[in-house]
Amino acid sequence: MQKVVVEGPGSFDKLIIKDFPDLKPSEQEVLIKVKAIGVNFADVCVRLGVYSSAKKYVGWPITPGFEVSGEVIKVGGGTKNFKVGQKVLAFTRFNAYATQVCVPEDQVMPIPEGFSINEASGFAAVFFTAFHALNHHVFLPKSSRVLIHSAAGGVGSALVQLCKAKGFYTVGVIGSSHKRKYLEQFSPDEIIDKSTQDLWIKAKEFSPKGYNAIFDANGYKTVSESYKHLCSTGKLIVYGAHDFISEKGNLNYFKAALGLFKTPKFNPMDFITTNKGVVGFNISYLLDEKDLIKECIDGLNSLLLEGKIKPIPVTEVDFENVGEAHRLIQSRQTTGKLVLTVKH
Ligand SMILES: NC(=O)c1ccc[n+]([C@@H]2O[C@H](COP(=O)([O-])OP(=O)(O)OC[C@H]3O[C@@H](n4cnc5c(N)ncnc54)[C@H](OP(=O)(O)O)[C@@H]3O)[C@@H](O)[C@H]2O)c1
Repeated sequence: MQKVVVEGPGSFDKLIIKDFPDLKPSEQEVLIKVKAIGVNFADVCVRLGVYSSAKKYVGWPITPGFEVSGEVIKVGGGTKNFKVGQKVLAFTRFNAYATQVCVPEDQVMPIPEGFSINEASGFAAVFFTAFHALNHHVFLPKSSRVLIHSAAGGVGSALVQLCKAKGFYTVGVIGSSHKRKYLEQFSPDEIIDKSTQDLWIKAKEFSPKGYNAIFDANGYKTVSESYKHLCSTGKLIVYGAHDFISEKGNLNYFKAALGLFKTPKFNPMDFITTNKGVVGFNISYLLDEKDLIKECIDGLNSLLLEGKIKPIPVTEVDFENVGEAHRLIQSRQTTGKLVLTVKH
């Protein structure tokens, strides 16, 4: 088998493919022959050495990657739900940039009907994240109004679909005009193109009393204003900080330090008088919470059966060109999901 190994932090050339012996699943795992791998912005943070759960669970060297699709080729003795030959997708904690992965069976799902193998590889990380953000951290009434930053990206596309499925008035924010047409396919009620429009004037125009939830993975550039644009009982959900990362390959230490310095500090005592709140999460710390992951799988399966969510369009890049995939997702210009396709 082959996997991508990153020996230490750096640019795209740090993603090196190496040969290893074939894997064997443990009792509770299934072994998947990987056909496609979802690329996430978090993988860039792992490569740059700024992803805290990568430091906690792995360290250096590391194989990035949170999700795959492929075929089960072996099952551990203690597994119950999958058989050899079955086409599946899986949510992994790292190690997905590989031609084989072993995954605990409760992080594996059959490929949903209507999904290609490439679309399936980009399902788990973004839909589990979006489902978790919406259902485990906040209570949102049926009449909710929500604003989603980076709405044409991977998690953004999943959030827009899940919010529309709940019947919320949904405003999606994009950073470049070419993303508008892409985002329209998920039918948000409004789109704000912050490259040509004043984000916060439009946000206020679309919801003068504020929003019940704002989903923000930007970081210091928007979190203060996001908080200000909540309505009473509204929640700011912070789940990333891509503002810290430059669009070039290496970590810009000055930009990252500036980001840390400029990040607003919230005072919980203020929440008592404003009736607003801030929550944050990182799902990569939660994969051992079996009940929570099962709830995500069951909830997403129901939505799939009801036809309320559809595959996120993918752009394919060969596994051998993994550095190019990182360059693309770091460029800010991508829409939907990038996937690495594996030839065996
Ligand atoms: N906490 C969690 O559990 C969790 C799980 C999954 C993902 N995430 C976070 O969610 C965010 C989205 O992840 P994704 O994989 O779906 O990525 P993505 O949204 O497909 O791609 C990144 C998008 O972020 C925006 N962006 C803003 N500043 C950027 C910068 N400096 N460099 C690159 N992009 C920048 C761009 O969109 P616009 O210009 O249109 O805004 C860009 O297209 C990331 O911050 C990621 O770390 C968090």
